[in-house]
Amino acid sequence: MSTSLTLRRPDDWHLHLRDGAMMAAVLPESARHFARAIIMPNLVPPVVTAAEAAAYRDRILAALPEDMTFEPLMTLYLTEETDPEDVAAAYRDGIARAVKLYPAGATTNSASGVTDFDKVRPVLEKMAEIGMPLCTHGEVTAPEIDIFDREAAFIDRVLDPIRRATPGLRVVMEHITTAQAADYVRAHDKDLGATITTHHLIINRNHILVGGIKPHYYCLPVAKREEHRLSLVAAATSGDARFFLGTDSAPHPDHLKEHACGCAGCFTATNTMALLAHVFEGAGALDRLEGFTSLNGPAFYGLPANDTTLTLTKSDTPTAFPSKIETETGPVTVFDPGFPIYWSA
Ligand code: NCD
Ligand code: ZN
Repeated sequence: MSTSLTLRRPDDWHLHLRDGAMMAAVLPESARHFARAIIMPNLVPPVVTAAEAAAYRDRILAALPEDMTFEPLMTLYLTEETDPEDVAAAYRDGIARAVKLYPAGATTNSASGVTDFDKVRPVLEKMAEIGMPLCTHGEVTAPEIDIFDREAAFIDRVLDPIRRATPGLRVVMEHITTAQAADYVRAHDKDLGATITTHHLIINRNHILVGGIKPHYYCLPVAKREEHRLSLVAAATSGDARFFLGTDSAPHPDHLKEHACGCAGCFTATNTMALLAHVFEGAGALDRLEGFTSLNGPAFYGLPANDTTLTLTKSDTPTAFPSKIETETGPVTVFDPGFPIYWSA
């Protein structure tokens, strides 16, 4: 017996494509299922200016296999030197769709991020004026704050003050991992949305640490307790249009994940849609999957939903996903949920 479900083609509202050979290897994994993606700017060096974003977009399109279509939606990496006029011009000209805020040192390649939030106030005010969204990596980096508390502390110490000081600023809380973040979104208005990753709907912190350390489950923000995972599943499957998919698929070669100081990031581009069908089916919410993957994100970003479709099929035998994607810098392990998946896209 097989069941199938046809959705508007999904988009990924938070994706790491990297550059060069790694990008060429992982780009088809996203383009196979997703029509568009918000592309993270945390390259080395970061994508800061409109000109850099346009050049990066051109490199992505040049790496796209000829038989695939995919639209990269670019972001600018916010630094304390970012020029509000350059940001406004990038938005006006359709070069960048959002600005990304990384607190300095919060995650992979975030050394050029923001330390003094007063220095970026003119950029945030300009963004509020023109309606350009701010995507936030919502973790404080103060050494005295426990890593499991960094998202909740960011809401109180950084996000809420920024939003109060900048009325009208549209914010996407990216890759939320806590009940506090989901509650904060629900308690506020239409100017606030949140992305949720596939892996945070599946793993909690035990998956990383119990029975031996599992580097391929380590990402930032780090997965939290099971009660938080359950609140993310509730938010994603609720039908509330402020929650939408951002996979945060973040490739690192295995030798840098399986390392004494392993990189943060889960690579889910390959099997995300099948995993989400499993999660939504488990929550009795398959009818809400399309909203989460294909409708809520475009609505927040003021874009039309895609015209094309993607069909998901459930069969009686487990789907065989590749365990690794080969790249010139070494294999990249595909996220393994740890249980059989019967869906395929
Ligand atoms: C991301 C990466 O590898 O670039 N890693 C991750 O764990 N998610 C950076 C990020 O989004 O935090
Ligand atoms: Zn990310």
